[in-house]
Amino acid sequence: MKTAVCPGSFDPVTLGHIDIIKRAAAIFDHVIVVVMNNAAKRAMFTQEERVDFLRQATAGITNVEVDCYDGLLAEYARQRGANVIVKGLRALSDFEYEFQMALTNRKLNPNAETVFLTTSAQYMYLSSSLVKQIAQLGGDIRDLVPSCIVDDILRKARQIKS
Ligand code: PNS
Repeated sequence: MKTAVCPGSFDPVTLGHIDIIKRAAAIFDHVIVVVMNNAAKRAMFTQEERVDFLRQATAGITNVEVDCYDGLLAEYARQRGANVIVKGLRALSDFEYEFQMALTNRKLNPNAETVFLTTSAQYMYLSSSLVKQIAQLGGDIRDLVPSCIVDDILRKARQIKS
């Protein structure tokens, strides 16, 4: 069985992430979406909230599991017996960072190969940061995130503002 991990901070999950997860699920037998912390970013949603959003949004995809981990991705992949790390690439601007991460992860775990899936064109511009900004400024996020989590995101954005 071919298991892949699909890591990210998912703060919050967007339709761009879901597109990558669905496409990974069509290639690999088992896809573990793992919610991690990015040391360079301060999260708006707790790890539990991010996991909950992903579980709701991927509920219909039978070979997708959602988990969370505080530690090295390379170590998580080893523990879960995953030989593939799937990342989405939106634009050239993502490349340098992702390339560095892929080489670092291979150094830490030579058994795990990083595979890049290119974004679908309609999601090229989309990011979690953009979603958070729009939600906090009262804009419409319905075309940007799974419909089941729209209200939760708006509620949190309102809480932060008040
Ligand atoms: O969605 P993001 O924020 O681009 O995801 C980045 C993430 C969380 C995958 C990355 O920061 C990560 O792998 N964090 C876990 C710690 C780790 O393994 N760091 C890389 C080696 S230093």
